[in-house]
Amino acid sequence: MKNKAILQIDEQKYPLPIITGSEGEKGIDISKLRSQTGYVTLDPGFANTGSSTSNITFIDGDKGILKYRGYDIEDLAANSRFVEVAYLLIWGELPTTEQLRAFSEMLTDNALIHENLKNHFEGFPWNAHPMAMLSAMINALSCYHPELVDPENRKEELKAAARLMSKIRTIAAFSYKMSLGEPFIYPDPNRRYVANLLHMMFSVPHQRYECVPEIAKALDKIMMLHADHEQNCSTSTVRMVASAGSNLFSSISAGVCALWGNLHGGANMGVISMLKQIHEGGMDIKKCIEMAKDKNSEFRLMGFGHRVYKNYDPRAKILKEQADKVFSILKHNDPLLDIARNLEEAALKDSYFQDRKLYPNVDFYSGLIMRAVGIPTDMFTVLFAIGRLPGWIAHWREVNDDPNGRISRPRQIYTGQTQRKYIPIEQR
Ligand code: SDX
Repeated sequence: MKNKAILQIDEQKYPLPIITGSEGEKGIDISKLRSQTGYVTLDPGFANTGSSTSNITFIDGDKGILKYRGYDIEDLAANSRFVEVAYLLIWGELPTTEQLRAFSEMLTDNALIHENLKNHFEGFPWNAHPMAMLSAMINALSCYHPELVDPENRKEELKAAARLMSKIRTIAAFSYKMSLGEPFIYPDPNRRYVANLLHMMFSVPHQRYECVPEIAKALDKIMMLHADHEQNCSTSTVRMVASAGSNLFSSISAGVCALWGNLHGGANMGVISMLKQIHEGGMDIKKCIEMAKDKNSEFRLMGFGHRVYKNYDPRAKILKEQADKVFSILKHNDPLLDIARNLEEAALKDSYFQDRKLYPNVDFYSGLIMRAVGIPTDMFTVLFAIGRLPGWIAHWREVNDDPNGRISRPRQIYTGQTQRKYIPIEQR
């Protein structure tokens, strides 16, 4: 049967529709499986299961291809900027000059947070993790914009997107200043997106931070490369929360929490601590590779491997070049970069990594660049979240635009205790 997969259970055959994506991906539509067969599927980690169709981002993991709304990531990295790519992801088209000007202006006009929001920072201990503060403050932010909290109120979306994209920087910078015990530095309307973030992080009342243009450009590229990545863990979390009818702020706050995980967005911090462990311990690269392969060892090659990419992550390629540029501009000599390179070379030659198609991913080099710029390790995942925000907003919109949208509610196979009767406590 053309365009049908046949599932046979005992003697019964069930035809299941085959769906083909615009890039030729094939999927078996099992949305009627349970009603037809009484069976559900089981796929822990959803490695083989598509949660939805989507028009936002395409990844071909075997070929190492990443496209945002049909544009190759290499093309965008060479020609575009983070704010323009954010517009493309959220609204589906590259903006005209006027659209980009208006969007940039909204970002500038919405950079301040309500003065009362600053009081929330005093409630955090000085060493609170910035990702904890970020997710909390995004929800707190929604209390000051009730008109944007109603998911039915779609006409305010541009405002909500611009407010979130702009204020996430201010929240991030203020949480950093709070951890240092330094006064908050307000956004500067004359600085572009990334330069304004660095200004709020690194300026002090008596000395304004002047950002080297190439450094701002490198960080802008890092954010662009992180802007979306189809149904990754944090984006799937945003979509799951959005499917319940939750507003944009609470969906994004949930995405921040998922991104924090060390197997996901937290890996960029993990890469630096791994490289530091190797450097400070004077560990031999070959030994590290053996430890990474040893199932009994805790050591994992952070920044390596990916659920989808079974080829070199195209983002890692671009970031590896950026690392060279940033290091030479800053005349920055970091032994961790040499260790990273040697680790990569050794792993790519090793059959364990080759057989499992484990390559460097986006996190392998991004942390080294942020570290060279002076961004503290515990802010790395915050910058990842700032970069990923446009993708999360785009997916939140896609869930809300779906006329056939349903609340996400996976099934399970129960393997626990079967029928039991209550036992009074004196008989236990
Ligand atoms: C991100 O999904 C996305 O798109 C995420 C992301 C995005 O933009 O949103 O790309 C961002 O999260 C990148 C990934 C960052 N995480 C890390 O760098 C952490 C280290 N990597 C691994 O933990 C792992 O590779 C994952 C989590 C990334 C992927 O895990 P999978 O798909 O569940 O793969 P797996 O754990 O089943 O690994 C398959 C095999 C196993 O060995 P075997 O059981 O077959 O013998 O590969 C081994 C794993 O032990 N393996 C590794 C390894 N990664 C996988 N062995 C050593 N070091 C590693 N890093």
